[in-house]
Amino acid sequence: MTVAVWRDEYRTGHDTIDQQHRDLFAQVNHIYALTQTEPQDNLGIRAQLADFAAMAIAHFDLEEALMTQYDYPNFEVHFKTHRALVNKVQALLEKPDRGLDGLPAEVTQVLADWMVHHIRGEDQQMIRFLREQSIAAVGG
Ligand SMILES: [Fe+2]
Repeated sequence: MTVAVWRDEYRTGHDTIDQQHRDLFAQVNHIYALTQTEPQDNLGIRAQLADFAAMAIAHFDLEEALMTQYDYPNFEVHFKTHRALVNKVQALLEKPDRGLDGLPAEVTQVLADWMVHHIRGEDQQMIRFLREQSIAAVGG
């Protein structure tokens, strides 16, 4: 079973962004699978969640660089949305005393829902703008 189900309608047309989105979906599904097959392996699950955070940060960096380069008018809102997600995941990672017991499956659903919502909203809006500015910007 997967929690992050990729649909073609999530494509932005920017090859690198689309690949990173698919990788993030795959990583969330990988974490979810671990919570089902290795529920006691908190360290392993946390390591995979840390990898997800690193992947998300690298991905957000690319989007933010594109938005800055093309003077995207909604940059602040989009940027804050990215930071909120990173902060949420880092807060989970910084609470080893509380562990992630019982949490991971729910966390993966929250991450999956966030990604779908964000891609369909802010990311599609951003890519429409970039496409208007320059075809080269969305070539990937
Ligand atoms: Fe984004």
